[in-house]
Amino acid sequence: MPAAAVVSRPRRDAWGQPRLARAWATAEDEAPQPIGAAGPSPAAPDPPALTQDADMKKPMPEIRSYAGAEITPYLEAIAALRIAVFRDWPYLYDGDAAYEAKYLQTYRDSWRSIAVLAFDGPRVVGASTGVPMSDEIPEFRAAFDDHLLDVDHVFYCGESVLLPEYRGRGVGHRFFDMREAHARALGGFNWTTFCAVEREPGDTRQPPFHRGNEVFWKKRGYTHRPELRANLPWNEVGRGEREHTLSFWLRPLGRA
Ligand SMILES: CC(C)(COP(=O)(O)OP(=O)(O)OC[C@H]1O[C@@H](n2cnc3c(N)ncnc32)[C@H](O)[C@@H]1OP(=O)(O)O)[C@@H](O)C(=O)NCCC(=O)NCCS
Repeated sequence: MPAAAVVSRPRRDAWGQPRLARAWATAEDEAPQPIGAAGPSPAAPDPPALTQDADMKKPMPEIRSYAGAEITPYLEAIAALRIAVFRDWPYLYDGDAAYEAKYLQTYRDSWRSIAVLAFDGPRVVGASTGVPMSDEIPEFRAAFDDHLLDVDHVFYCGESVLLPEYRGRGVGHRFFDMREAHARALGGFNWTTFCAVEREPGDTRQPPFHRGNEVFWKKRGYTHRPELRANLPWNEVGRGEREHTLSFWLRPLGRA
């Protein structure tokens, strides 16, 4: 990954978004929380007030997709977004350009890769990637070795990262729609998958009111397969390099 362009750290996290603020009042937040997503505790502070500044009213980003070598000019922007967005819980990624270069090499090298990007004017404000699992790094491929799933038929959806001020307007759905459509168009894939970091329940670094993506992923037809695991090291904020466990989610590709 080229030197990551400097992207200023979001000034607030997803909790500052109107969509989430509405969610605080829903029954869903009172219900048992999904894995790793402890709900609000009695000691938790009140959620931030909805008096956000003008950049709350960002336009709906324009979504465009790029395949194979077309992705290369955007790798710096994707790296910068990953570094900015994954700094937050649960990834706590203290990213750097060298790590990104290695990680994103896969997307540069595979002619079957895809990047779905969200633009606000010329600025890339969100990104998601995908690549056949057979083109992925050995650490990810190995997760499937012992589980009777032929990696040749699995399409891997990489990260989805969107700056907080653009969230809650369907871009995350578009990211999935377009990557799944790409996998269908390529042909030969029976499954799509992605992985997410596992965190210990009760990890004190989890922000109060954090709402995970599990409900979203289940709605998209994905099932958590905790037995499919991979280990990946990355620098964690304040802790240096650590090995992290990621577990996979899987869905039959089927029709749209
Ligand atoms: C994941 C992410 C890309 C989703 O983007 P998004 O554009 O906000 O997603 P959408 O608006 O399409 O909403 C998708 C679902 O997320 C949930 N959601 C929406 N807004 C949310 C918010 N502010 N907070 C929490 N969940 C929210 C809803 O369940 C929604 O599904 P629904 O519309 O069917 O109810 C974005 O939240 C993000 O960048 N998060 C940080 C990085 C991350 O966790 N990535 C996933 C792992 S790689």
